[in-house]
Parts: sequence; structure tokens; C-alpha cells
Amino acid sequence: MPKVSTLPDVLDVRDPQGVAGVGREVREHGMALVLGADSRRAVLRLAEKLMATRPHPDADPDGATVIHDIGAQAHTPGYAGLGAGELLHHTERSQLPYPPRLMLLVCVTPATSGGECRLVDGRAVLADLAHRSPDAAHALAAPRSAFFGRGDGHLGSVFARVNPGHWAIRLRQDELARFSPAAHLHLALLREVIEENTVTVETSPGCGYVIDNHRWLHARAAFTGDRTMLRVLGDPLPRLALRAGFTPAVPRDGALATVAG
Ligand SMILES: [Fe+2]
Repeated sequence: MPKVSTLPDVLDVRDPQGVAGVGREVREHGMALVLGADSRRAVLRLAEKLMATRPHPDADPDGATVIHDIGAQAHTPGYAGLGAGELLHHTERSQLPYPPRLMLLVCVTPATSGGECRLVDGRAVLADLAHRSPDAAHALAAPRSAFFGRGDGHLGSVFARVNPGHWAIRLRQDELARFSPAAHLHLALLREVIEENTVTVETSPGCGYVIDNHRWLHARAAFTGDRTMLRVLGDPLPRLALRAGFTPAVPRDGALATVAG
């Protein structure tokens, strides 16, 4: 039975209080749900208040990327996001040494069917995994146990300590992910824990989310129709005061302590 996670209140970004709330929610929970970003201009305005935009090969000159089904080209490895199929939980730009910290995704046109956004908090995943199998947490946090991307991709691990007591999660599950034999042994459990902690966000025009891409993984259900989303990637402005990494959720049996070190 999947766990029921609590999502924060949805914030109306047409209201300055709502925008201020986005920064607060991201700082406290690593994510915020938004509504009222009713135009491309409104999406970009919200992004401007939160982040320094990062360039992306598929982005338009204004920094926003239109996410929709581009057809056959989406079958190229690494382009599944621009298709209509299911996308398994992943970190955006996992192949980079330092993936963009923030991702804003807003719905322009919902799918005819499916296309829900599925999110999971890496903080909960790490705590649950360490509780269920300390060996799995160790293997998936071992340096050089995962490689993401093409030849110039990133060699690291699913869980990485970024500061004493602070962690980041990084994952992709397509053909551009490779794992050490020891890490590979625990992928099934990792996927189980991810599913159990996943929350689903329905999409409607002007609604979306901001996530700390070093803490939350995102996924998408398969869809039909002209589902169109706008995405902006970037790094938090100093006023967001977002600290590096997340602290592990309270361990239920102390198992995490051995991983957290
Ligand atoms: Fe993505």
C-alpha cells in the first residue's frame, strides 16, 4: 500500500505573498506547488524571482524549454522527456557535475489522458532505504558506483554526501545510466521505496511545481494528447538561502547513522 505523503499547500504566484511562499516551501520541504502561472511571461517572471537561469540545449533564447511530444526523435537515448511515454524518476541533467539546483515546471496544456507529474522526496527515500536495508543504502552511496550520461557524463553515486550530514540524490533510469555490480543488486529495492513514497500532482493550465533537483526526483506518466509544459532550470538566488543538500529524515532505528557518517 503506497504511503500517503503530505504535499504543501498550492501557492498562487499572482500574489507576491505566494511567490514569497515558494522560496519558503523550497527551503523547508525542497518543493513548492504553484498555480496562476498563466502565461509564458508569468512562468519566466516567477523563475526570475527564484533562480539564475541555466542554459539548456533544448531551451528557447528566453531560457524556457517547451516540453511536448516531438515524435520519433524522442526515441533517441536521452530524449524520452520529449516523447509521450512514461518517464521513470530522475534528476534533471544528471550527467552534469552539478545539476541545476532548481527546476520549475508549469502546465500549458494538459494531456487528454495520463501525463500526471510524479514526485518523490529523496530525503524520505534515503531514510526508508536505510531503514529497510543498510546494505542497500551503503551500496548506493558508495563513491563511483553509478555513471550517468554519455562519455562525458558523471561518475558518482545515487546518494552523495555534499557536506557532513547533508546529502543529495541523483538518478536516471534510462539507457544512459550504469551502476556498479554492488549498486545494481539494490536497484529493485530502491525502485520499490521510490514508488512507495511517490506523490502524484495533477496538471492543469498555469499549475506546476518548483523542486530542489538535488533532493526531489521527478517522473511522468505516459499520456495521450497535446500535453505541453514549460520548464526553466537554474540555481537559486542568494535570497532563497538554500543550503547545500538535505539532512536525512529522522532514522527510525539508527540504521541511517551508519550511512550518514
Ligand atoms: Fe526531467
